[in-house]
Amino acid sequence: MKRLLLAITLFINITAIAQYNIIPAPANIEMQNGSFVISPTTVIIINNEAEKSTVNFLNNYLKTYYGFSLPIVSKATKNYISIITPTFVRKPDNEEKYILNVSPNSILIQGDGKAGTFYGIQTLIQLLPIQTTSKSTIKKLTIPSVSIQDQPRFSYRGMHLDVSRHFFPVSYIKKYIDYIALHKMNYFHWHLTDDQGWRIEIKKYPKLTSIGAWRDGTIIGRFPGKGNDGIKHGGYYTQLQVKEIVQYAADRHITVLPEIEMPGHSMAVLAAYPELGTTPNIATKVPMTWGLNGVENNVFAPTEKTFSFLEDVLTEVMDLFPSKMIHIGGDECSKIWWKKDAYSQQLIKEKGLKNEDELQSYFIQRIEKFVNSKGKIIIGWDEILEGGLAPNAAVMSWTGEQGGIHAAKERHNVVMTPGGWCYFDHSQTKNEDSVTIGSYLPLEKVYNYEPIPASLTAEEGKYILGAQGNVWTEYMAYPSKVEYMIFPRMSALSEVLWSSKENRNWQDFEKRLPMQLKRYQLWKANYSKAYFEIQSSIMPTENNEGLLLKLESKQTENPILIKKENSTSLKYNTPLLINSTTKVEAVQSMNNAIVSSVVFNFSFNKATGKKIISNIAPSATYPGNGGLFSLVNGVKSNKGVNSSEWCGWNGKDVELVIDLGKTTPIREVNLDILEKNGSWIYAAESYTLELSNDGINYEVPNQFRDDELTEDYYSSTKFIKIKLTEHPSKMFDTRFIKIKITPLKKIPEGKPGGGKAAWMFIDEIEVN
Ligand code: ACM
Repeated sequence: MKRLLLAITLFINITAIAQYNIIPAPANIEMQNGSFVISPTTVIIINNEAEKSTVNFLNNYLKTYYGFSLPIVSKATKNYISIITPTFVRKPDNEEKYILNVSPNSILIQGDGKAGTFYGIQTLIQLLPIQTTSKSTIKKLTIPSVSIQDQPRFSYRGMHLDVSRHFFPVSYIKKYIDYIALHKMNYFHWHLTDDQGWRIEIKKYPKLTSIGAWRDGTIIGRFPGKGNDGIKHGGYYTQLQVKEIVQYAADRHITVLPEIEMPGHSMAVLAAYPELGTTPNIATKVPMTWGLNGVENNVFAPTEKTFSFLEDVLTEVMDLFPSKMIHIGGDECSKIWWKKDAYSQQLIKEKGLKNEDELQSYFIQRIEKFVNSKGKIIIGWDEILEGGLAPNAAVMSWTGEQGGIHAAKERHNVVMTPGGWCYFDHSQTKNEDSVTIGSYLPLEKVYNYEPIPASLTAEEGKYILGAQGNVWTEYMAYPSKVEYMIFPRMSALSEVLWSSKENRNWQDFEKRLPMQLKRYQLWKANYSKAYFEIQSSIMPTENNEGLLLKLESKQTENPILIKKENSTSLKYNTPLLINSTTKVEAVQSMNNAIVSSVVFNFSFNKATGKKIISNIAPSATYPGNGGLFSLVNGVKSNKGVNSSEWCGWNGKDVELVIDLGKTTPIREVNLDILEKNGSWIYAAESYTLELSNDGINYEVPNQFRDDELTEDYYSSTKFIKIKLTEHPSKMFDTRFIKIKITPLKKIPEGKPGGGKAAWMFIDEIEVN
C-alpha cells in the first residue's frame, strides 16, 4: 500500500512537472487524466508520405537518446502516434499551428501545415521524460495525457552563425540546424563571407575558396591579441554540401538565409581578386585579426567589374538557396577607401550623389535591382539605411532598435537583432573567464526582450517579422564554445519569438529551465551555468562605515559556503559585515561539483564604503551596472569591462563626488582607468580633482599625475592607475572629493571607433 502511494505521488509530480516544462511556452495547454506509454511496440501512423522527414526527426531523436525507434504502419487501434497534416481546400492561415493530444490510447499530432506538424513533434519530444539510466535499458517513456493548441507569435525566429571568423564543418552546421529546430525556430542566417574568410564555393571564381577561404593564422587572445598562433585556418562548403545543408534545413522547416557581405567586410575577396578593391595594385592577404574594420580593411570599389562579379556570385547563390530573402551585409563599410579613390569620387559626381553614404546607397540599390530581377528581395544590416533605403529592402537592425523603427515606419520588413539583447557573443556572466567580445547579456535580459518597439503603431509593428540571435565567432573557435554562448540564451529567445506576450513570464520560465538544461545535458551540449552563479552585491551600511556583502543564488539544493580569511567555512545566511581589509571566498555546489565560486579581496582605504554620487549614472549596457558604489566598495577587478566592478560612460562629462562623512586628512587620490581601444574604450582627456569641506565651495589642489601601467595581454586591456593629488608629502583636510572627467569626445580617425565618442571606464577610487 505504501509503495502504491509512493508511486501515485511520484506520478502526480512527474505529471505536474511535465505540464510546465515546454519551452517555448505553448499558447494553450490543458492537463488530462492518465498517460500514454511510448515503448518499442508503439507504432506511427501517417496520412502522407511527405510526413516521413518529420517522423525521421522523431525516430532519430528516440534512437539517439532512448535507444529505439518506432515503425510506420498504415493502421492501428491502440498504442499509436498519429501524425497528420490534413489537406485543406483553402491554404490555412498559419501553417505553423498544431494541436497535440495525448491520451492513454494514442497520441495525435495535427498541424495546419507540415511545419505545424513538425512543431507538434518538437513538443512531444519535450514531453519525453529524461532518464539518467543507460539508453539500452530504457523501454518505456511515460507521457502525461495533455491537450495542447499552439502557434507562434512571430514568423521570423532566427539564429545566425558566423562561419568566417571560425569555420565549422558540415556535421556541426547540421547539429546547429537541429538545435534551431528543437527550439521551434525557423531561420538559419548563414554568415558565409567576411574579411577573415570566404566560405562558399563559387564555380566562376575558384580563387574565392582556393585563396579567400584560408588565413595564415589567428590572433591569440582578445584583439589586438598577444601575437599570432601561426596556424593556417580555413575551409569552405562545396555547392554540393550547401545543397545538402539547405535540404537538411528544409526537412526541419528551416529557411537558410545566406549572407554575402558587401561593400565592406570583403577582404577575403580582395585577397583573391585585388582588382575588385580600391587599391587593385596592392596585394593583400586574408586578415588574421579582427576589430579594425574600416580602418585597415579595404572594401569593394563601386566599379562595373565589381558589380559583374557580385551579380555572378549572387546568381550562383540564388540558385543554391530557395530563400526569398538574400542577405547582402552592408554593415561597417568604412568610407575612407572611397574618399581616397579617384574612380569612386568620379562616380559620385557623375551620378549626382551627395557623398559616400549616398554612394553606399547607390551600391546597395544596384544590387537590389539585380536581386529583384531574379524574383528575390534583399535584407541588409541597418547601415543600408544610410543614404536612403533601397525600395524593397528588408532591414536587420543590429546597432540598436532605431534602424528597425525607422525602417518599419517606412513600411519595410524588419528583423530585430539589437546588440544589447540579441548578441550571443556577449558575456552572460559578470565573471566571465573565457575570452568574449565583452559586454553583458544575461539570460533574463534576453528573456525580457520585446521585438516590437513601443514607439511603433500597431500597423507599423506588423513590419517586425521577428528577431534573431547573432553568433559572431571571433572568440568561438570550437562547437563547445558556440554551445556555451548560445545555451540557454537561445531558449529564452525562442520563447520571446514563439510564445504570446501574455504567456511570457520570467518566473514561470525559470521553473521550466532546469528541465531544459537536462535536455542540453542529454544532447551533450556544453551549456553555460551562469544562471546558477552566486550573485553578489556589496552595499553601503546605514552609517557608511564598512560594507555589507550580500550573496544570492538561483540554486537551492545546496547552501552557499563562505570562508573568511583564517577561519573555517560557514553556511551563508545573512549579509556579512566587512569592516577591514580581508579576503572572503564563497562557493556553491550542484550535482557534487562546484558550480560557482567567487573570491572577494576587500581592500580598505579612506573612501571605502563612503557615499558616492554622480551627475550621470554609469551605463547599464556593460556589467558595470554594479552601480556607482562599486567605485568605493573596496573591491578591484582586473577583468575590465567584463566585470561588474567597472563603471563606464560614453562621451559624457562626468562628475563624481565622494563624501568622507567628516573632515579627513588625505594625501592622494588614485583612480583605475581602462584603455581598450578595440572596444572604443580610451583614457579620458582629463581627470581633475577638487576638494571641499562643505560640499559647495571646492578648491582645486595642485594636480599631480603619476600613471602606473599594467597590461593584461590576454584580454588586451591596459589598466592605468592615476594619482591625482600632490605626492607624497602634502596632506589636505577635506570632507568632499570631486573628480571631474572629460572624456575623449571624438576618437581620432584611423583608430578603432574613429569619429565616434569614446567610452571611458573607471574602477576603484582610493583615497589615502
Ligand atoms: C554586425 O554586428 N556588424 C552586423
